[in-house]
Amino acid sequence: MSAERTLVVLKPDALQRGIAFEILSRFEKRGLRFVAVRLLKVDRTMAEKHYAVHKGKFFYNDLVGVITASPVVAAVLEGPNAIAVVRAMVGSTRPHEASEGSIRGDYALVGLRNLVHASDAPETAASEIRLWFPDGIVEYTRDIDRWMSEDKAPS
Ligand code: CDP
Ligand code: MG
Repeated sequence: MSAERTLVVLKPDALQRGIAFEILSRFEKRGLRFVAVRLLKVDRTMAEKHYAVHKGKFFYNDLVGVITASPVVAAVLEGPNAIAVVRAMVGSTRPHEASEGSIRGDYALVGLRNLVHASDAPETAASEIRLWFPDGIVEYTRDIDRWMSEDKAPS
């Protein structure tokens, strides 16, 4: 599997609880590399674009209210199988159903305070990365990456 990129957003509850970078550090320790990071306060227009897929659902207004309430940290992570790896690390949407060891299973209790957004497919990852990082990402590789990839035989 070649490298993929995925968007993660540490939602306001993660920053307010002081665990945003602890959570980001889990992704980094897993082997993914950061190729973009931003701290920002999301306005309503941005929130509506990000959550457009959920418009009309019963939780939509609450969702927009929560993500605009206080700053977030957005990041793009890159690595083999990044989308599936990050989704699995984040855990089920409803934290009481999330496995222990997942971020939501370890730190969260309810759906509207589930700490992290993570892209769910290659198409959504691409459009979300464009939305959150319109100026692009920073491309680079690390020497260590060849020890975590199937692409090249380490020598
Ligand atoms: O974040 P994830 O992809 O796991 O879930 P989603 O289905 O894309 O829903 C987006 C967000 O809406 C979730 O992360 C929850 O914060 C919220 N939500 C909720 O509060 N109650 C639901 N039944 C479904 C989603
Ligand atoms: Mg989702």
